[in-house]
Amino acid sequence: MKPMTMTDLNQLKKEKRKFATITAYDASFARLFAEQGIDVMLVGDSLGMTLQGADTTIPVTVEDIVYHTRCVRTGAPYAFLIADMPFMSYATPEQSCENAAKLMRAGANMVKVEGGNWLFDTIKMLTERSVPVCAHLGLTPQSVHILGGYKVQGRDEISANQLIKDAIILEKAGTQLLVLECVPVELAKRITDKLQIPVIGIGAGNMTDGQVLVMHDALGITASPPKFAKNFLEKAGNIRDAIRLYKEQVENGTYPGKEHSFY
Ligand code: KIV
Repeated sequence: MKPMTMTDLNQLKKEKRKFATITAYDASFARLFAEQGIDVMLVGDSLGMTLQGADTTIPVTVEDIVYHTRCVRTGAPYAFLIADMPFMSYATPEQSCENAAKLMRAGANMVKVEGGNWLFDTIKMLTERSVPVCAHLGLTPQSVHILGGYKVQGRDEISANQLIKDAIILEKAGTQLLVLECVPVELAKRITDKLQIPVIGIGAGNMTDGQVLVMHDALGITASPPKFAKNFLEKAGNIRDAIRLYKEQVENGTYPGKEHSFY
């Protein structure tokens, strides 16, 4: 086995080959996902909702993410692991370095931060100090109380243009991957085409370079799943086939379909 790297992901973007990513929180699922060919996993702060039962991701701590990153790394030694920086763990560039170091020591290959141009100095500082960064734009769940709920972002011209500007600035700061959540398909395509770095969508249509899904959404465990989610277990009948089906449908562009997308 060969470890997955950013070089491989950049090559996939160049070749216009789509890739599937999924959240993972423990060693058993991480192993199963890796066995089905999922090479990129996210230790998401969505664990606050999926594992801890909270309404938001806000209660999640750095220690929580460290613990789950260790578990996932044990189950998937060759996967490219992105670990979420939880709420308020990157409020200043200095604080972000201290907390990112904990996630990298736990086995992450990259850390993910939510937000726009205010993160320029943070991302620059992290990348200059050898911490690869994934940015997260669009619906940023840690800002749910500012956004007034879990809503599609970038629907009007002004906010769409702001998202495009943010994406370009964050790439300039050194961001190597971008997650775009809950934005219209056309906007996701514009951003994906403008950036050199791979863009991973969730609720952003099928024109991005990759997709990510919360594992509980992909396996039909979430009680009220979002519109963009698909229960792959329903059709596949068992978890291994469900994950393979998810990967196949992302790679051939059939997931997400129109019914999972915003226009
Ligand atoms: O925490 C998470 O799982 C995420 C995904 C929704 C992208 O950030």
